Amino acid sequence: MEYRTRKIVKPSDLNPMNALFGGRLLAWVDEECVIYCGCQLQHTRLVTKFMSEINFVSAAHQSDVVEIGVETVSVGRTSITVRCEVRNRDTQSTILSIEKVVFVALDAKGKPTVHKLAKLEHDQRKRGWAGAGFLGRLAGRGEPANAAKA
Ligand SMILES: CC(C)(COP(=O)(O)OP(=O)(O)OC[C@H]1O[C@@H](n2cnc3c(N)ncnc32)[C@H](O)[C@@H]1OP(=O)(O)O)[C@@H](O)C(=O)NCCC(=O)NCCS
Repeated sequence: MEYRTRKIVKPSDLNPMNALFGGRLLAWVDEECVIYCGCQLQHTRLVTKFMSEINFVSAAHQSDVVEIGVETVSVGRTSITVRCEVRNRDTQSTILSIEKVVFVALDAKGKPTVHKLAKLEHDQRKRGWAGAGFLGRLAGRGEPANAAKA
């Protein structure tokens, strides 16, 4: 998993217990995941479809720097599933983990649409190319071979 984004916890990010507000952290996570998925799929119109159990493992406090990591779990025809972890930069302790966040690629009318990677896979299969089937091999690798760098 690569941790690409860092955030500093400011007074306006705190809950009444003086810890990082969960909703603020989820907004950061959602934003980071959608940027990552957009890069992977080379598709800008994506919506969050599903989030699995969210585990707030430990608290973050004012002035802490948190790092947000995302990796690909699987890629479908219109969707991509990623895993996300947030950790404290200095202690490296986990603050949050989510096993599955699903984003769906939409067309201009807001309907699910087959994204470029799935189209590429389909074309490769049709032509009988050796690389065909790469979508199925992405799980756990984190970096689709044909995707732009996030
Ligand atoms: C996203 C949306 C257009 C999808 O509509 P839908 O009728 O569920 O679409 P489909 O059934 O065709 O599924 C689309 C993809 O999502 C996946 N999917 C749907 N429900 C899922 C779920 N509960 N968990 C995991 N994946 C799911 C499907 O497997 C499919 O992926 P694939 O094509 O890669 O196999 C619709 O649910 C929607 O508009 N939701 C609101 C999104 C939103 O506003 N998000 C912001 C929330 S604050």
